[in-house]
Amino acid sequence: MYKITKKVVLNEAIDLMHIEAPLVAKNAKPGHFVIVRVDKDGERIPLTIAGMNGNDVHIIYQKLGYSTQLLGEKAAGDTIEDFVGPLGKAAHIRDKKHVVGVAGGVGSAPLLPQLKAYYEQGTKVTLILGARNQDYIILRDEYAKFCDQIIVTTDDGSLGQKGLVTDALKPLLASDKSIDHVIAIGPVIMMKYVTLMAKEYQKTIDVSLNPIMIDGTGMCGNCRVSIGGETFFACIDGPDFAGEDVDFDELMARQNYYKEEEHVCYMRLKK
Ligand code: NAD
Ligand code: FES
Repeated sequence: MYKITKKVVLNEAIDLMHIEAPLVAKNAKPGHFVIVRVDKDGERIPLTIAGMNGNDVHIIYQKLGYSTQLLGEKAAGDTIEDFVGPLGKAAHIRDKKHVVGVAGGVGSAPLLPQLKAYYEQGTKVTLILGARNQDYIILRDEYAKFCDQIIVTTDDGSLGQKGLVTDALKPLLASDKSIDHVIAIGPVIMMKYVTLMAKEYQKTIDVSLNPIMIDGTGMCGNCRVSIGGETFFACIDGPDFAGEDVDFDELMARQNYYKEEEHVCYMRLKK
């Protein structure tokens, strides 16, 4: 059993939790993920690590489905059944001069340790932090501790610049020639369009394919991804990949496979 040492409700849909897991905390690196099971009959939830301190590992989750809703009912002091990790391959922290991180919604959680690692090696770090509205902009104060510049966008204009993250990225890539790398973490459709833009401006790009994972063990096959005609598994070979040759349309089609079953489970819990 693993103890929840801290819980912060970030908004109506998203919570931050610190879980006491010393071995995971000791070995985790940016880009690694964990598998959480709330109880012994629970579904496996793969979550990319959002940070570590001491014996604690930080996770941030959106209460979209049955299992994340159950996790959200837990409080500090409670325990969860399983917390397995670190899993996957650590993100490749490249030798770059100026990196732009593009975070969409809850994707800002896994991006945080990666951008921090770039800052710690001396890379200039710019962040575009996008969400549907001001309530969904999370971790801004944490990012402000090390980012050289933060541009906030909201779809409805309730905070920062009105529009999508790509509306802020385009003028930045067009005007700042020092930028030599982009990292995009958020919805698959966002990562697709950020990748197209990075390619247009001849910048290298990394993306995180966590959203297509289900069991996180290489067994279910849902996270397979075609990159330049070769097949990879996000949970084994990733979740982070160079984005240039990822077939995002294939991923988006597969993301819808279990939508109906997920909805039925979610409604059962709501009753
Ligand atoms: P959302 O749908 O509200 O989108 C967040 C932001 O992404 C938007 O504000 C917008 O700026 C940008 N965006 C969305 N569609 C776009 C498009 N077509 N073109 C350009 N930009 C676009 O996101 P949400 O509801 O907060 O959901 C978060 C998503 O992040 C989920 O889909 C989840 O699976 C994913 N996620 C990804 C990771 C990862 O590791 N990649 C980790 C956690 C969550
Ligand atoms: Fe099931 Fe990777 S998540 S095989």
